[in-house]
Amino acid sequence: MNKDFLTLLDFSSEEMHTLLQRASELKSGKESASCPLIGKSIGLLFDKTSTRTRISFQTGIYQLGAQAIYINTKDMQLGRGETVEDTARVLARYLHGIVIRTYAHSTIEKLAENAGIPVINGLTDLHHPCQALADAMTIMEKKGQLKDVRLAYIGDGNNVANSLIEAALLTGLDLVIACPRGYDPDRKIMERVLSGGGRVRIVSEPEEAVRDADVLYTDTWISMGQEREVERRKKIFAKYQINQKLLSLARPDAIVMHCLPAHRGEEITDEVIDSPQSVVIDQAENRLHTQKALLEMLIK
Ligand code: CP
Ligand code: NVA
Repeated sequence: MNKDFLTLLDFSSEEMHTLLQRASELKSGKESASCPLIGKSIGLLFDKTSTRTRISFQTGIYQLGAQAIYINTKDMQLGRGETVEDTARVLARYLHGIVIRTYAHSTIEKLAENAGIPVINGLTDLHHPCQALADAMTIMEKKGQLKDVRLAYIGDGNNVANSLIEAALLTGLDLVIACPRGYDPDRKIMERVLSGGGRVRIVSEPEEAVRDADVLYTDTWISMGQEREVERRKKIFAKYQINQKLLSLARPDAIVMHCLPAHRGEEITDEVIDSPQSVVIDQAENRLHTQKALLEMLIK
């Protein structure tokens, strides 16, 4: 097993299934008394805001017996020019693991190369693998399987979409992505997944993507760091909205997912996100269980 979890493909398909199994055991409460990480310290280094990732990691770390040290990177010497490499080497002398949320994916690669301790990706511009773990757990719970489940992702080919593409390779999900031209997911990630036998298709029309879909999924049109593109993106993505009309074209028992935070009235309507078909709160809960399973697997 890799020391780090920078992308979903740091896991094999088998490791991913083991993690999902363990996460559901943890969720069922069977092992609530076990504190495998007692006495350990995990750093949470955040360059961007967060509700779910920060709080679910912090709570999960506590539940496993360790302490979480949350640091906004603006308060670190990193913010005044200390290098990522020096920071990694020093933190490895204090901590047993690092969760980091940042912009460039290369930053966490540099951190992981220089830290002898596990580094977990809490979101970069390119990947959001912890989100994909919770997504897979949620689909498994609601649909009973992952293989051949048709997931229609509507919207921006961003970090969340990239990690779902990697999830398709590990789990056999049948992924159809509808995005505007020029806003496709990362080309290299697509190529790697397709050459490995993953089932992923890109279409331009949301209506085409949702036909026969078991799961509809969307994310914000404007990711953190893209705030200057708000007006342009709102125009380009206008027809990539999950609304009741689009939902009615999917299978009648389709579920609706969103990594949250949602921009209600933009990528998803109130009516849909608050409907009985929406599973977004269960999905957010599963961040906690999957990340606890992840920490158990990685932190020694
Ligand atoms: N889905 C997710 O990562 O949410 P936060 O930005 O609140 O952590
Ligand atoms: N794509 C979004 C996900 C937020 C959890 C972003 O990067 O801002």
